[in-house]
Amino acid sequence: MLILGIETSCDETAAAVVAEGKTVLSSVVSSQVAVHHPYGGVVPELASRKHIEAIVPVVNEAINTSGIDAEQLDAVAVTRGPGLVGALLVGFCFAKAYAYMRGLPWVGINHLEGHINSVFLEPDPPPFPFVALLVSGGHTSIYHVTSYTAMELLGQTRDDAAGEAFDKVAKMLELGYPGGAVIDRMAKEGDPGKIVFPRTFLDKSVFDFSFSGLKTAVKRHIQNHTDDGATRIPDIVAGFQEAVVDVLSYKVIHAAKTKRCDHIALVGGVAANSRLRAKVRHDAGLEDLTVHIPSVELCGDNAAMIAAMGYHYLVAGKVSGLGDDVFSRARTG
Ligand code: KG4
Ligand code: ZN
Repeated sequence: MLILGIETSCDETAAAVVAEGKTVLSSVVSSQVAVHHPYGGVVPELASRKHIEAIVPVVNEAINTSGIDAEQLDAVAVTRGPGLVGALLVGFCFAKAYAYMRGLPWVGINHLEGHINSVFLEPDPPPFPFVALLVSGGHTSIYHVTSYTAMELLGQTRDDAAGEAFDKVAKMLELGYPGGAVIDRMAKEGDPGKIVFPRTFLDKSVFDFSFSGLKTAVKRHIQNHTDDGATRIPDIVAGFQEAVVDVLSYKVIHAAKTKRCDHIALVGGVAANSRLRAKVRHDAGLEDLTVHIPSVELCGDNAAMIAAMGYHYLVAGKVSGLGDDVFSRARTG
C-alpha cells in the first residue's frame, strides 16, 4: 500500500510517500524557522499563510522524488491534531480535496501517535509492548504501547513541555529560535556539573513531569549573574540540559520497569538531543533495557510518520469522511 502523508500541525510543511507503513520512498520537510525566528516563537497566522504557499510544491516534490506516479497512490494520511488549528486546516483541507479528487480513501491522524510510529520506519523497531517517551515542543508524555494503534498514557507534563523549556531558556539567553538544537550544540562546550539546577521528579512513582520550576531557576541564575562574568553561557545551558535529561531518563526507565517492558522508544523533536540519546542509552543499558531512537530527521515533525500511522489505521479499516475536522488539543485516537 502506497500512502501519501501530509503534516502541517505547526511550523513545518511536510509530505512523504511511504510503502507498507515502513519504507520511506520520499520525505520532504519545508521549515518555516526563518519566518518565525525574528519573533522568538511560532506566530500562528504566519504559519497558516506559509503552509498555504508551501503545500502544493511540497506535495509535488514528495511525489516526484518518490519514484512512483501519483496514480499509484492507494491512500492519503494527514495530521488531524493536536496543533495550531489554522495550520492544521491547510494540510487537512488539502488532503481531503486531494483524496476526493482521486477517489482515494484518506484518514486523519493524531500527531502524537504519528511520532510514536516514527520508530517503525527504522530497521530495528521495538517489539510490543514497549514504553515510549514522547518529547517535543508541545508535549512530554510517557505511553505504554501495546500495538501500532493502542497506546496508554502513563504520565505527562503538568506545565511546560521539555522542548518548550529548551526554547524558553534559549530565548532568555538570546540564542535564537528554536532553541533545542542550539543548546544541544553549545552544551558540549560547557560543564554540566558547574551549576546544578533543580531536578523536578514530583512523586518518583508517577510518570508526570514539571519543567516550569527549572525554567524559573535558570532565569534567576541569569538575573543574579548579570555582569560578574562568573558564569559562561555554555555552563548554564549544559547544567540546564543535564537537569532535563536526568529526569526524562529516570522516568522512562522507571516506567519500563514498572510495566515490565524490555524496550524503550524515544520520539519527538527533543529525541534529537545528543545528550538525551546518550544518557538514556547508557542508563537503560545498566538495566538490560533496549533503546530505540529514530534518526534525527524522523524525530522532528515529518509526514513519513503520519503515513506510517495511516497505514495501520487503514489496514484496520478506519477511514475519515467529509464531515471530519481538525482538533487543537491533545486527545487519543
Ligand atoms: O516534534 P517537534 O519537531 O515539534 C512538535 O511537535 O512540537 O519538536 C520541536 C521541539 C522544539 O522545542 C525544539 O527546540 C526541540 O524539539 N528540539 C530539540 C533538539 N532539536 C529540536 N531539543 C533539544 N535538543 C535538540 N537537539
Ligand atoms: Zn511534533
